[in-house]
Amino acid sequence: MKQTVKLAVALLLAMSSSSVWAQWGAPVDPNPNMGMKDAYKDYFMIGVALNQRNVTDADQQALTRQEFNSVTAENDMKPGMIHPKEDVWDFEKADKIANFCRQNGIKLRGHCLCWHSQFADWMFTDKKGREVKKEVFYKRLREHIHTVVNRYKDVVYAWDVVNEAISDNPRGRMVDGKWTPGNPYRESRHYKLCGDEFIAKAFEFAHEADPNALLFYNDYNECDPGKRDRIYDMVKKMQDAGVPIHGIGMQGHYNVYGPSEEDIDAAVTKYSQLVKHIHVTELDIRMNMEMGGQLQFSRGEAKPVAPYMQALQNDQYNRVFRVLRKHKDVVDCVTFWNLGDRDSWVGVNNHPLPFDENYKRKPVYYVIRDFDPAVDNAVIKDDFKPNYWNQPGQEYPQVNSQGYVRFRLDAPDAKSVIVSLGLGGRGGTVLRKDKDGFWTGTTERPEDPGFHYYHLTIDGAVVNDPGTHNFFGSCRWESGMEIPAPDEAFYQVRKDVPHGNVSQVLFPSKSTGEVKTAWVYTPPTYGNFIGKGAKAKQRQRVGDGTSGMERFPVLYLQHGWGENETSWFRQGCAGIIMDNLIAEGKIKPFIIVMTYGMTNDVKFGKIREFTAKEFETVLVDELVPYIDSHFLTKADKWSRAMAGLSMGGFETRLITLRRPEVFGYYGLLSGGQYAPEDIKDPKQMHLIFQSCGSKEYPDRINQSTEALKAAGLPAVGYVSEGTAHEFLTWRRSLKEMAPLLFK
Ligand code: XIL
Repeated sequence: MKQTVKLAVALLLAMSSSSVWAQWGAPVDPNPNMGMKDAYKDYFMIGVALNQRNVTDADQQALTRQEFNSVTAENDMKPGMIHPKEDVWDFEKADKIANFCRQNGIKLRGHCLCWHSQFADWMFTDKKGREVKKEVFYKRLREHIHTVVNRYKDVVYAWDVVNEAISDNPRGRMVDGKWTPGNPYRESRHYKLCGDEFIAKAFEFAHEADPNALLFYNDYNECDPGKRDRIYDMVKKMQDAGVPIHGIGMQGHYNVYGPSEEDIDAAVTKYSQLVKHIHVTELDIRMNMEMGGQLQFSRGEAKPVAPYMQALQNDQYNRVFRVLRKHKDVVDCVTFWNLGDRDSWVGVNNHPLPFDENYKRKPVYYVIRDFDPAVDNAVIKDDFKPNYWNQPGQEYPQVNSQGYVRFRLDAPDAKSVIVSLGLGGRGGTVLRKDKDGFWTGTTERPEDPGFHYYHLTIDGAVVNDPGTHNFFGSCRWESGMEIPAPDEAFYQVRKDVPHGNVSQVLFPSKSTGEVKTAWVYTPPTYGNFIGKGAKAKQRQRVGDGTSGMERFPVLYLQHGWGENETSWFRQGCAGIIMDNLIAEGKIKPFIIVMTYGMTNDVKFGKIREFTAKEFETVLVDELVPYIDSHFLTKADKWSRAMAGLSMGGFETRLITLRRPEVFGYYGLLSGGQYAPEDIKDPKQMHLIFQSCGSKEYPDRINQSTEALKAAGLPAVGYVSEGTAHEFLTWRRSLKEMAPLLFK
């Protein structure tokens, strides 16, 4: 797939302008100095958890300043680090992070004051190792909280007061024949000593120490409906009892498969009924299945990510941020748990963050930063209809009147389904299982009008969509999709129009030792005798019986790289376009010959060596004579045209220039340009037609056409509005070019 894109890039570069690079190559960041915090300034703060290395290294400091406006100490403010023994305090590392924030005017989230893990466990026992009473524990906890909160009061604006006090999976059981629900609280040492009272106590102590600080309860698996409700109930109970709790921290340790957008939305919505402040406190999206508490670390040297995995992560980050933006009135800070993948506590090979192991922005960074509010607010009309090319009886894929495409697929055991359509810079449309168990999804934006190739990637395997027909492109049969265009009538099959034929021709090719295939369009009047009545009848009796028949000019029409001889008449609708033009009297009928341009064999990196020599022999020395001897053609140069799209244009340019005696009309459709100096004799052709889509390189086409005209050459340029390097550009180009041929 990557290879395919690279080759297409190489081909386009070889054929035309450098501006194409911007369209097909690595994205150029128009705002390199804009950080995530800037992009989200009207939404929420963007934070990061830092370690000692991050605040020591100058580059990492600079990155933090550029991207973030809130910081959390990853470990260095935890009770176990800062207060390892009753009379031992170690503030050095925490101070270093606090000072970095002070010096740079960055806000600090305090993490955390009371937790079952990385805790000051000495608080539970006396000098002899015996369990203390809860009153002793509270006294110690209070002193701890007061000391820490006071020390960082000037810079810490919010504290995670209690961390992870709710159970993941409370086991209910039968007691005396009655179902008794399990304990909603984590049965930690704290809980065993104090019951849930310690939670309220910790909040009270923190509030005493700094009445201005925002106090949070923080937990993971916070979108799981069961745990979400347990957290809700606990916070509600505390609030009802007057405990000073201001916010809920959603840790946000997610993975590429979940939680679903709906569950995140439901959690934020539910929590916002209780608190005015929601922080996502520890966001990362790992690439393995585990979530929250059950972790699968993936450390070691960074390994490359499979493209489909990256697409899943891009999509998951996109969904998470879309939900959070929607709730910007209650969400006021979103913190990434670690600066770059190398720092991540789940390991570099989970690739969980927007910055890679070298602190470079990853593609997913741009998914997060460069969101489009218009997409957030888009209203998608519910008027979806089956795609034109759907297989019999298939309801999906569907297209709506705005050009959005909706997919629905049955793949019960699949872990992931991605549709390559609707790239939006992030690898396609990721489908999610709906409540009925079908994989469904809609493109993020309307697609360009016209025909698009696409495929599915199911758990990393590339397959076609069983819902629709297959079309040859990218060196294989791919699924195809049609977005209605305003001008679609010109390529639609009409009942009121006589139709020609497209027939298969097998011709011998000596040079390759093969029997090759061409498809030949013959117009509706092909085989008719010239004139009417007795005179025409008379002509039938002469010679081989064809002598009185009309003879036609021929257009040799080439496909692009990765396509084949079927592409022009199937997805290109070449025959239908001809039938319609002929019926409307816009053109005099002619024949179109479509053969394989031997383009699939061109290997990556070899495009500059590609001469089209072998194909020239097949076309000019083998196919043209065959067609002239088997069809009713006018067998002269002024009745012969050659045109091609994309790489077929590249071939057209080479062959028409090397064999000026064969063709009298030239067409390059998104296939480069002729330069005036290419043309040895200004009378060697009657037309140079050059075109592309407005989303390709229209300036180049217009400039080139002007230059050719200025040199006295019969050049015509055409730009297809609103289309890119795709078949609607070429259908329209054929429609524009056909009336200019054989004049
Ligand atoms: C993690 C740190 O990132 C690791 O370095 C450490 O070994 C364990 O703790 N929930 C929390 C964080 O609230 O404090 C945890 O941080 C991750 C889970």
